Amino acid sequence: MATPSPHGLRPAPLRALLLALLFLSIIILLTLHLPTRHRPLPPAPLMILPTPLRTQRAEKADLSSSSLSPSPATMSHVVFDIDSSSSSFPSPTTMSHVVFGIASSGRTLPKRLPLLRTWLRPPARAFLYLDALPRATSPLPSNIHLRVSRDASRFPYTHRRGLPSAVRVARIAKELLLEVDLRQHGSPRWLVLGDDDTAFVLPNLLHTLSKYDWHEPWYIGARSESVAQNALHAFAMAFGGGGIAISWPLAQRLARVLDSCIIRYPHLYGSDGRIYACLAELGIELTHEPGFHQIDLRGDISGLLRAHPLAPLVSLHHLDHVYPLYPGMDRSNAVEHFFGAANADPARILQQTVCYDRSRALTASVAWGYSVQVFKGNVPLLDLLSVQKTFVPWRSRRNVTVTDAFMFNTKHYPRDECKRAALFFMKSISSGEGKTESNYSRQLPAKCSPNLIPFGNLQQIQVTSELLHLVPGKALRRHCCDIVPSSSEITMDINIRKCKDDELIAMHS
Ligand SMILES: *[C@@H]1O[C@H](CO)[C@@H](O)[C@H](O)[C@H]1NC(C)=O
Ligand SMILES: *[C@@H]1O[C@H](CO)[C@@H](O)[C@H](O)[C@H]1NC(C)=O
Repeated sequence: MATPSPHGLRPAPLRALLLALLFLSIIILLTLHLPTRHRPLPPAPLMILPTPLRTQRAEKADLSSSSLSPSPATMSHVVFDIDSSSSSFPSPTTMSHVVFGIASSGRTLPKRLPLLRTWLRPPARAFLYLDALPRATSPLPSNIHLRVSRDASRFPYTHRRGLPSAVRVARIAKELLLEVDLRQHGSPRWLVLGDDDTAFVLPNLLHTLSKYDWHEPWYIGARSESVAQNALHAFAMAFGGGGIAISWPLAQRLARVLDSCIIRYPHLYGSDGRIYACLAELGIELTHEPGFHQIDLRGDISGLLRAHPLAPLVSLHHLDHVYPLYPGMDRSNAVEHFFGAANADPARILQQTVCYDRSRALTASVAWGYSVQVFKGNVPLLDLLSVQKTFVPWRSRRNVTVTDAFMFNTKHYPRDECKRAALFFMKSISSGEGKTESNYSRQLPAKCSPNLIPFGNLQQIQVTSELLHLVPGKALRRHCCDIVPSSSEITMDINIRKCKDDELIAMHS
């Protein structure tokens, strides 16, 4: 069937057509060889400044917004300026590229400020969203900005046991991006959501984010430790208290569509569920990073902290619901003490190193900056990598079998204190010249007769190590250690070092 020529024009002669084709291909070839001006370059090389807390792009003294005023008048529609450095030359991600959106409330803020002050140091900056301003609070550091959340009562919430404030908290992801003028805060690459009782180890957060190209849609975090909590909410969800990292372009997309997702999922429990639902509808799946910790546990979490994965510690949550991190201290002193070690060598905090002394038949397991255990005899590495069940489940119901399952292997922790390892907790730390020296002092069992106490004489352990430098893209490998001859019976000296190529972490290797 012949195609009618339009408007009665005669078909063009073949020669003219060929000429036109030739001309077109020359134009196409020329365009391809011209420099591409607005095409994004490949991701910045994954590189971290040795001290990521320092930055050239220091924040201007932001005194105006440091007060309690939610300053709605100054909230303007955000104009996101494309990071000029990313399109001209690749630049490393620094703390000034991260914006925290923290869920808080007028009731909890005064209690949580000491924790926030401990970890949230400039140039890191956070916007805290509250239901209402607290009646009084001490002056805030200039990198902490308070905002009162918009009224969210028009959104449906139908979960029977949850709190409707979950909707308000979920909308932080929208309000922060659409209503805060971030031009004065540099060009963000990552949105990190957390609760006011979440503590982040900033250099490790930065290292973790630097593994990913922020131009791409990343949704990063961790699930709960509790199988029951994951079953109840979702196994593929980043739990909000542990922290949720969303790359900025994805966060912008999320902010635009979040309200419609909130309307479609009124039956979900929390704010993190709503964020998860919306990201799922955007076609994005969770990338699991084991350094984030929701801590859906209660009581003594030392067993968990002594068996941290090789991934650097990124966050801890629910510190008000567990025992103080170090025995004999109150919660806030214990957190300060913990961050003293984390600031001295962030990458090494909680890293587990195991060494063996064949002649004295003992095994030592160091959770750096936190605690050391010394066991009689040869305890194989795999036994030490299991988490000692020192804690109790987040929700203990009558049927313990369901709630008492965790996302990692656990190991029985003897009720009889005489049967436990000799236990030490960090007492002091000093650092300099690329090294640290940390001392751990004995915590003697309370209910064990002196002749039954293992290593009854041992009072102090001194651990020396070089600063741990993480390089994105390099595989992680556990370090080795040596128990070095000590000057006295009551102390043990441990030196942490890199393992040799073929070295095994075992007593008889
Ligand atoms: C506890 O839960 C398990 C698994 O759901 C079930 O098989 C068992 O019957 C329950 N036990 C009690 C006492 O409810
Ligand atoms: C650790 O203990 C040793 C021996 O008591 C002491 O010489 C050293 O100064 C201590 N180090 C720190 C960091 O407290």
